[in-house]
Amino acid sequence: MKDEPAFPIFCAAHELDSWDERRPQAAFTELAGSGCPVRRDGTLVVAARQEVADFLRHPAVRATDGVHFNLGGKRPLIPLDLDGDVHRKYRRLLDPLFTPKRVARLEPVIRARTNELIDAFADEGSADLMPALCGPLPTHLFIDLLGLPTADLPVFLRFKEAVVRPQGATEEEQQAGMRAAGDRMYAYLEAVLAERRAQPPRDDLIGGFLTTEHDGRRLTDQEIIDVCYLLVIAGLDTVTSALSCLLAWFAEHPAERRRVVADPGLLPRVVEELMRFESPVPLAHRWVTEDIEVGGRSFPAGSKVEVVWAAANADPAAFPDPLTVDFARPRNAHVGFAAGPHRCLGSNLARLELRLAIEEFHRRVPDYEITPGDRVVYTNHGVRGAIRLPITFPVR
Ligand code: HEM
Repeated sequence: MKDEPAFPIFCAAHELDSWDERRPQAAFTELAGSGCPVRRDGTLVVAARQEVADFLRHPAVRATDGVHFNLGGKRPLIPLDLDGDVHRKYRRLLDPLFTPKRVARLEPVIRARTNELIDAFADEGSADLMPALCGPLPTHLFIDLLGLPTADLPVFLRFKEAVVRPQGATEEEQQAGMRAAGDRMYAYLEAVLAERRAQPPRDDLIGGFLTTEHDGRRLTDQEIIDVCYLLVIAGLDTVTSALSCLLAWFAEHPAERRRVVADPGLLPRVVEELMRFESPVPLAHRWVTEDIEVGGRSFPAGSKVEVVWAAANADPAAFPDPLTVDFARPRNAHVGFAAGPHRCLGSNLARLELRLAIEEFHRRVPDYEITPGDRVVYTNHGVRGAIRLPITFPVR
């Protein structure tokens, strides 16, 4: 183990000597194989692929402690901060709005938005893909998805930044900043909803929320706001980070990139394997409501548990030779989009955005490399992503 670092540890793997900000996969493999890992602060860690599946299936495992809600929310976020029957009820209502067939309608918009962003730098011969493409694309798409005006883009970018990377010297200051940003987002969403209720229904996500029914009941305004609030966070930084990881990987692996450029039909498999390998959302927390035993290991009532998706995805017991990116991997049951009741609601949308954005980017810029003398800078705090992704390419 490493010496105590000066900053708060985000993930158990950061405590290992093998931790490497650029290439964290080996540390995650070590964590997955380390028996019953516990963080230095005592937090129990679930890291092996099978243990992740067994642990999350247990009914005493909960998404929150019922007191603290995620991401500056003043009420439980729907459905992330809910459990059991209430959670299942909301998933039954929301899942139909995010099926592969439903999200496929967005294909023309995703292609068009990607190309608009590429237009701005295609003649330059170089770009930092983070601010030029990976950052703005998911936010543009989210605004299109909800049916909101493009001029509102800064509202979402400011909110996302304040909640994902809270400012402040102390935790209290950071929490206060998040809550203030959260209150502004609640007010914005309330105004949007009031406006939309006064108009005829439209064929966008808010229109879907206003008309979707389950057990003869529609969603209330507060419920719609609590879903939208979560989607803003869940659907923006995650796709941004994943896209940046995948494009950075292609920039550094020209032979594999050429194969994919020549045959875009490989992309669905390639995206799955790179989601496994990069695991842009590395972990989640869970709470245990009673003394339980899973796979012979005890979890006392009241424990907060760190579930490390990235370690499960690098577990050699589930993925032979896990540090090799293998597009032909015969079985790839990765948990890059989580597992268990809270598995990602937007995974079909995320997969579509990633596949189409990469396909369009490779059509316009097939040949690129990390700018000589420069380098990719990664963050692994919260989500893993390239915060700086400088590339150079021949102008066509
Ligand atoms: C590459 C992009 C994405 C990744 C890697 C990702 C990953 C995840 C993960 C790991 C979770 C579980 C969180 C937890 O258990 O604490 C999750 C949940 C969730 N995600 Fe995603 N996500 C992505 C994109 C999206 C998108 C585009 C949307 C929506 C538009 C979305 C909506 C949600 C929601 C609503 C949940 C909570 C589900 C529940 O509690 O039942 N995600 N996601």
